[in-house]
Amino acid sequence: MAMRRTQFLLLLLWLLCVYAPACFCANVTYDHRALVIDGKRRVLISGSIHYPRSTPEMWPDLIQKAKDGGLDVIETYVFWNLHEPVQGQYNFEGRGDLVKFVKGVATAGLYVHLRIGPYACAEWNYGGFPLWLHFIPGIQFRTDNEPFKVILVCLSPVTPTSCYFVKLNCLQAEMQRFTAKIVDMMKQENLYASQGGPIILSQIENEYGNVEGAYGPAAVPYINWAASMATSLDTGVPWVMCQQENAPDPIINTCNGIYCDQFTPNSKAKPKFWTEGYNGWLLYFGGAVPYRPVEDLAFAVARFFQLGGTLQNYYMYHGGTNFGRTSGGPFVATSYDYDAAIDEYGFIRQPKWGHLKDVHKAIKLCEEALIATDPTITSLGSNLEAAVYKTEAECVAFLANIDNTSDATVKFNGNSYNLPAWSVSILPDCKNVVLNTAKINSESMISSFTTESLKEVGSLEGPSPGWSWISEPIGISKADSFSRFGLLEQINTTADRSDYLWYSLRIDLEDDAGAQTVLHIESLGHALHAFINGKLAGSGKGNRDNSKVNVEIPITLVAGKNTIDLLSLTVGLQHFGPFFDTWGAGITGPVILKGLKNGSTLDFSSKQWTYQIGLKGEDLGLPSGTSGQWNSQSTLPKNQPLTWYKINFSAPSGNDPIAIDFTGMGKGEAWVNGQSIGRYWPTYISPIDGCTSSCNYRGPYDSSKCLKNCGKPSQTLYHVPRSWLQPDSNTLVLFEESGGDPTQISIAIKLIGSSCSHVSESHPPPVDLWNSDTESDRSGGPVLSLECPYPNEVITTIKFASFGTPHGNCGNFSHGDCSSKQALSIVQKACIGSSSCSIGVSINTFGDPCGGVTKSLAVEASCT
Ligand code: GAL
Repeated sequence: MAMRRTQFLLLLLWLLCVYAPACFCANVTYDHRALVIDGKRRVLISGSIHYPRSTPEMWPDLIQKAKDGGLDVIETYVFWNLHEPVQGQYNFEGRGDLVKFVKGVATAGLYVHLRIGPYACAEWNYGGFPLWLHFIPGIQFRTDNEPFKVILVCLSPVTPTSCYFVKLNCLQAEMQRFTAKIVDMMKQENLYASQGGPIILSQIENEYGNVEGAYGPAAVPYINWAASMATSLDTGVPWVMCQQENAPDPIINTCNGIYCDQFTPNSKAKPKFWTEGYNGWLLYFGGAVPYRPVEDLAFAVARFFQLGGTLQNYYMYHGGTNFGRTSGGPFVATSYDYDAAIDEYGFIRQPKWGHLKDVHKAIKLCEEALIATDPTITSLGSNLEAAVYKTEAECVAFLANIDNTSDATVKFNGNSYNLPAWSVSILPDCKNVVLNTAKINSESMISSFTTESLKEVGSLEGPSPGWSWISEPIGISKADSFSRFGLLEQINTTADRSDYLWYSLRIDLEDDAGAQTVLHIESLGHALHAFINGKLAGSGKGNRDNSKVNVEIPITLVAGKNTIDLLSLTVGLQHFGPFFDTWGAGITGPVILKGLKNGSTLDFSSKQWTYQIGLKGEDLGLPSGTSGQWNSQSTLPKNQPLTWYKINFSAPSGNDPIAIDFTGMGKGEAWVNGQSIGRYWPTYISPIDGCTSSCNYRGPYDSSKCLKNCGKPSQTLYHVPRSWLQPDSNTLVLFEESGGDPTQISIAIKLIGSSCSHVSESHPPPVDLWNSDTESDRSGGPVLSLECPYPNEVITTIKFASFGTPHGNCGNFSHGDCSSKQALSIVQKACIGSSSCSIGVSINTFGDPCGGVTKSLAVEASCT
C-alpha cells in the first residue's frame, strides 16, 4: 500500500513537471482589503527608488538595502523624456535601462510597482514629458485632447497614398503609444507578475485629481479614457490612479500624502493603498534642507495600518541625484536626497532606516489578522484610539495616542499601557507591545565628509597647475543665431536644448552717452545675466515661489554703438500644476532704458533682437573634456563670468562615496568624464529664518516644519558616482556662469564615523524576539544593539557609555545626574572585538545607580 502511494506521488510529480507551464505566473487581483497575489491577501511595504537617480552599479546595493529594511515592493516612475528625448528615438541605456532595473528588483525577490504615468511630476524636468510633445500642433496636455491621447490605427500595409494621412494622425497618439510601448517592453521580457515577473501594479496618470478642476468639463472624459486605455493594455495586474477620487473601476484610487490614515477608496470593493508617504521633502536651490523625524513617519505608517491600510509606499526610500539637466522646477536642486531611509550616496540613514525596519517587522507580525478582517475601532479616551483585528485564531491591536502634547496611560483588555503623545503601540497578540513608534531601538550613525584638494594628474605647465580654461564668448558667437523683432519666450525658442538663450541688441546713442541710466528687465525666469558692452553689469534670479525676474541695473552707455547682451537661463522646467506645460520662461519684457537726460525712457522690447540658442562651448563639445582649445599658459581667470574650466584629477582610493565640493564657485553645470553631475549653485543661500535647532516630532508634519541649514548654501556637495571615476585620470569640466575660483574646489569623501544607540528601560523588547516561539524570550527586557556599518570591521572603541540618565545625541552624549560606574567596562566587554553586540538595558546588567528613576543606556562606538 505504502509502495503504491509513493509510486502515485512520483507519477503526479512527473506529470506536473511535464505539463506545468514554464512560468510561475502569479494571479494578481484585489478585493476590499488588499492586493491578492495567488489567492492570498498581502500586507505590502513599498519604497520609491527612481532608477535614473542612481547608477546601474548602485542599483543592486540599493535594492538589497531596501529588502533588508523590510520592503516588499519597489515603486518607480517611468521617465518618458529620458527614454524618448527625440520623437521616435528611444534610449533605454545606462541609467535608463528600465528592464535591467526591474529585473534587478526581481532578482532580489521583491515586487515592482511601475508608475508609467506617463506624466510623472517627480521634480523631474517638465514632469517627465518630452519637450517635443509641446510642439505638436493643437496639442493640449492631460485633457480630453485628441492629438494628445487618441490612437488612430494605421492601416497596414500603408500605401503611399494613405501614408500622409496615417502619419499625421499616428504621430498624435502619443500618450497611448508611449504607455503601450512600455507595457509591451515589460511583456516581452515577461516582467508582469501575470507572466512570472515582479510587476504587481501599474499606475496611469499621476495626481490628476489635484488639478482636475482647472481642466473643466474635459477632465472627466480624459480620466475615463486614460483608465480604459490602460485597462485595454491587458497587463494582467491591477492599475492604480493616485489622488483620483473619481478613478473609474477597476482602477484603484490611492492616497498620496504626509498622512493617509483617514483615506477611503471610492468603492467598497477597493483596498486602501498609500502610494506616496513622504520621508522628508525635496530641496530647492535657495531653500533650507527639509527633514522629517522618523518618530512622526513611523507614527504615520502605523496609523495607516491601524486604520485598515494594506499597501504603503515611502516616497522616497532612496531619493538619489538629479544628474544632468533632469531636475524639474524651476529651482529643484541637484540633490534629491529627500531625507530618505537610504541617503543620496547609498548609505542607510540611521536611525530612520532601522526604526522603520522595526516598524515593518512589527506590522508583518500582524499580517494574518490584518488581512483576515476589518478593524474594530474604539475610543480609549480623548485622542486615544484602539483598533483591533480579531479572528478566531488571531488578535492584533494598535493603540494610538494622537494628542500632540500629552502622554497617556490607557486601559486595554484589562491591562495598562503607557502611550507617549503622537505614537502608536503595536500589539501582535492584543497583549504585549512589540513596538511603540516614538521609542527608537535602532542605532544611529554619524557619517561625515572629509575633504581633500583635487589631486591633479599630469600637471600642466603654467601658473595654475592642473587647471585650463576657455572663455565663452559674451553675446552672439554661433553661426545659427537669428534675428526677430520683439522679445521671444525662451522654451518655445530653445525647445530646452540648452539652459541658455542669448538676447542681443545693438543701439546707437548720442545725447545720453555717459549718463547714469538704469536698464529695467522683466523676465518670466528663471535667472539672467546682463552684459553691457561686453562687461557683466548685473544679474537676477527668481525663486521657487516666483520664478520671475525683475531687475533694475545701473548702466552707463557710450557714445555711438552699444551692445546689450542678456543671457537668460532656465533652471529646470516646471513639473507640476494645472497647464504647467505652458508656463513660459525667458526675457519677455519689457526691457526699458530709464533715466535718460531729458527724463524720458527708451523701450527696447519691440526692437530687432538677435538670438542664440545655447553656448558656443556646448556646440564645441567642451563638456566631454576631449575637444576644444584649452588655455593653460596665462594666469587662470578667477571670478570671471562665462568661463569653462577643466582639470584632470585622480580619484581618492577606495570605494567610499564621493562628492565634489563647489564652495568658491558661483553657478553652472559640471561634468566628470563627460557625464553631467548636474547643475551646481553654491551661491544660492537659503533664508536665515525657518530652521529650529531640534524638531519636535509630535504634531502634524509639513514640509516647512523641520528645516536645517538656514542662511547657508542650499547645496555645496555634488555626488559623483564611483562608477563614473577611473582610479588614475579623470576629467572635471565645468561651465561657470557668474564667476568663481576653481582652485577652491575640493573632493569630499563620505565616511561613517561612529555608531550610537540610546535605549530606555521603558522600551519594548526588540521586535526580533517575536520570531522566537517562547513567551519568556518575548517578554525579556529592552536590548541595545550595535553593528559595524562595514563588513569585516569590528568594534574597536567605546567612545561613550552611560547607564542612568544620559543626554545628548550621537556624537555629543553626556552623563546625567545618575550614571552607573560600571557601564563603560560592561559595554566594552560585551562589544570590543565583535562586529555586533547586544546588551540588556536593565538593572540586571548594570545594577541600579538611582532607584525609582527610569534609566536608559547610551553608547557611542567606533569600528575599524
Ligand atoms: C507629489 C507627486 C510626486 C512628487 C511629490 C513631491 O505630488 O506625485 O511626483 O512630485 O509630490 O516630491
